[in-house]
Amino acid sequence: MRETHLLLLVCGVLACFTLSLVKAEDPYRFYTWTVTYGTIYPLGVPQQGILINGQFPGPRLDVVTNDNIILNLINKLDEPFLLTWNGIKQRKNSWQDGVLGTNCPIPPNSNYTYKFQTKDQIGTYTYFPSTLMHRTAGGFGGLNVYARSVIPVPYPRPAEDFTLLVGDWYKNNHKNLQQLLDSGNTLPFPDAILINGQAHSTFSGDQGKTYMFRISNVGHSTSFNFRIQGHTMKLVEVEGSHVIQGMYDSLDVHVGQSLSVLVTLNQAPKDYYIVASTRFTKQVLTATSVLHYSNSQSSVSGPLPAGPTYQIQWSMKQARTFRWNLTANAARPNPQGSFHYGKITPSKTIILANSAALINGKQRYAVNRVSYINPDTPLKLADYYNIPDVFSMDTIQANPTEGPAFYGSSVMPTSLHDFIEVVFQNNENTIQSWHLDGYDYWVVGYGRGQWTQASRNTYNLVDALTRHTAQVYPNSWTAILVSLDNQGMWNIRSAMWARQYLGQQLYLRVWTSTKSLANEYDIPSNAILCGKAVGRHA
Ligand SMILES: *[C@@H]1O[C@H](CO)[C@@H](O)[C@H](O)[C@H]1NC(C)=O
Ligand SMILES: *[C@@H]1O[C@H](CO)[C@@H](O)[C@H](O)[C@H]1NC(C)=O
Repeated sequence: MRETHLLLLVCGVLACFTLSLVKAEDPYRFYTWTVTYGTIYPLGVPQQGILINGQFPGPRLDVVTNDNIILNLINKLDEPFLLTWNGIKQRKNSWQDGVLGTNCPIPPNSNYTYKFQTKDQIGTYTYFPSTLMHRTAGGFGGLNVYARSVIPVPYPRPAEDFTLLVGDWYKNNHKNLQQLLDSGNTLPFPDAILINGQAHSTFSGDQGKTYMFRISNVGHSTSFNFRIQGHTMKLVEVEGSHVIQGMYDSLDVHVGQSLSVLVTLNQAPKDYYIVASTRFTKQVLTATSVLHYSNSQSSVSGPLPAGPTYQIQWSMKQARTFRWNLTANAARPNPQGSFHYGKITPSKTIILANSAALINGKQRYAVNRVSYINPDTPLKLADYYNIPDVFSMDTIQANPTEGPAFYGSSVMPTSLHDFIEVVFQNNENTIQSWHLDGYDYWVVGYGRGQWTQASRNTYNLVDALTRHTAQVYPNSWTAILVSLDNQGMWNIRSAMWARQYLGQQLYLRVWTSTKSLANEYDIPSNAILCGKAVGRHA
């Protein structure tokens, strides 16, 4: 007993020591963000928005790989609130993930200071509210992680860098939308697509120069296709992966995803349309912005450039062209291709099938029949304090089964350092978008119909890219491989917010019985405690 304690102590001290050495080199960035309601007019009519420091969308976080972010979030709404950092891996630190399975929500007129590091990451990300339907009212923003100056990126530095938060939008208040869902309905079709919270925006540049467009889908339910009149786009980065730099006339971006392109202003000096239009929808919503040449002679004109609307095969084909540049480095100087993911045999296959199910006559969504509900005590806290009766690890099966859907707080058990295969099986006739917190993963295959073991023959085991959110086409499957190197309690969820809200989510418990700060940090001293964790010591 005593020996075990001593060992833990030594490990703890060593880990702390290493940690503080690393942290000493990495800069700290401090923020205070106040969340309030405010009137916004994105579609010309007043509506209640969620503002951060008075801004809609929220302030952009521009940080550098390995920065330490200390962000005090003050909640001035009349409802509990949390932000989650979409794509930030929170290494060893699911405590800071900002979802209800890991964090107690910040009560009204209260605050919580997030402390996390953008460890070994570069790329285009976002943050957004994870609570209720807050995301439909704002509170989201861009989160760009720039490479350290010592790490060359595989493209010339652009003249400027534009962040485009593109997403579907409702005129209706977030509480009304939530009320619709709570009473068993689905959401109506969105009213519009906004770019940076506006129906009209302009991006200006000089003829002959090259600009980066960081494009994220911050919407709730619809994929969009993005294009710029008269210009081609060179894809350079997808959620932190440096990709083969192909040229594209248009690109599909699904809910929760991000990518960056380089655009050279090599056309006649005028203004050009930037277009985002919905995909896989009967009615097509279109948003336009303007690409303005500083020496422009005339304003935008001509028809909007055409894009695909329902062509699934087109989109799947394009998705397969997104591949890792094996010789490019990411956040670290070792090339992306130095990790041979395709040579590792997965120790486990998990098949997750989504469904739209009625429970007690109300619309719900489920994964392998379980429609997730948030317990009052965050799963992570229940796990840490050994609080019983909050969740069980055999609620959800690792394969789809027959039968009616039911409520549950699903936690799927896995072991730290496992390498797993996850298949998202979509037997619904609508597109899906699946996100995993705490990780990026290799998207190795997309296919129509039912996944079978033979589908593995079609996997890209050489240069698939890693990302945090993958689309699953209607009546199709998407397969991913994940290296479980990040201990914690991690949310797997539909990025489509009404689906997430009504149960299409679960948690992956990545666990080892070895308690060590080298694997996972301690609970933060300022952790908010709620539910059955009230009174425990943080
Ligand atoms: C709330 O903010 C204060 C500083 O204004 C800080 O000392 C405190 O730690 C914050 N609370 C939490 C839970 O982070
Ligand atoms: C891959 O990355 C290398 C190294 O940074 C770069 O020189 C090369 O142009 C890239 N190749 C492609 C096809 O994008």
